[in-house]
Amino acid sequence: MDVSGKTARPAVRPRVVGEALVRDLDAPLFAERFREILDLEETGYEPTRRHTAEYLAYVLSRPGRLCFAAFHGERLTGFSLAAPLEFFPMKRGAQDDPGWGRRDTLFSADLVVAEGWRNSGVARALKHRQVEAARAAGYRRIAGRNRVGVADAMWRVNLSLGAYVVHHLRDEYVDDVGPADCLYYHIDLVEEAGATGGA
Ligand SMILES: CC(C)(COP(=O)(O)OP(=O)(O)OC[C@H]1O[C@@H](n2cnc3c(N)ncnc32)[C@H](O)[C@@H]1OP(=O)(O)O)[C@@H](O)C(=O)NCCC(=O)NCCS
Repeated sequence: MDVSGKTARPAVRPRVVGEALVRDLDAPLFAERFREILDLEETGYEPTRRHTAEYLAYVLSRPGRLCFAAFHGERLTGFSLAAPLEFFPMKRGAQDDPGWGRRDTLFSADLVVAEGWRNSGVARALKHRQVEAARAAGYRRIAGRNRVGVADAMWRVNLSLGAYVVHHLRDEYVDDVGPADCLYYHIDLVEEAGATGGA
């Protein structure tokens, strides 16, 4: 993955049938569309990054969560799940995050788009909504992880929102799908005190 964001992009964008409508993914909507959500997770991620139904429910039920679903008409075309960083001690990099314990970091735990709807701006719409909502909720930064070479489209969106690498995690994934490394990133939502060199 080219961390400068200059990765080659597919030349042809497939059909775009209207804009994605992004809605809050709350407990009733999660229960109602649970089968589709799980199906999206299972078909969207390769096995090493795929999460279980229990994990999805865990994130969705955390206080401070920010979760969204993208729709085209009635069709669920993607979703994102995020919650405070301290709920993710099991994710490599999280406990070494400089924001760990400060309770002001939102951890982006999952974002997936249905295969037939990719490359039409759904991930961008979901990530923009997450950033807006996190800022409005008072979070100071978003943290997350992107697999090198496999999540290039996501990394491109994140870079455009100001993402930078906090940890380069080597040998995180053991499979033959792509590179084994993972970028642990931050997107700052407010200017950190002292960042401009002031008093
Ligand atoms: C990664 C993923 C979420 C991207 O979803 P998407 O809806 O296709 O992304 P978008 O259409 O919003 O495209 C985002 C940008 O990446 C670009 N892009 C698409 N494919 C790309 C690729 N292979 N390499 C680099 N950039 C790419 C798009 O052109 C777009 O750029 P632009 O908005 O500046 O034109 C989707 O491929 C997916 O669900 N993958 C499996 C799960 C995953 O890896 N999730 C992310 C990590 S948690």
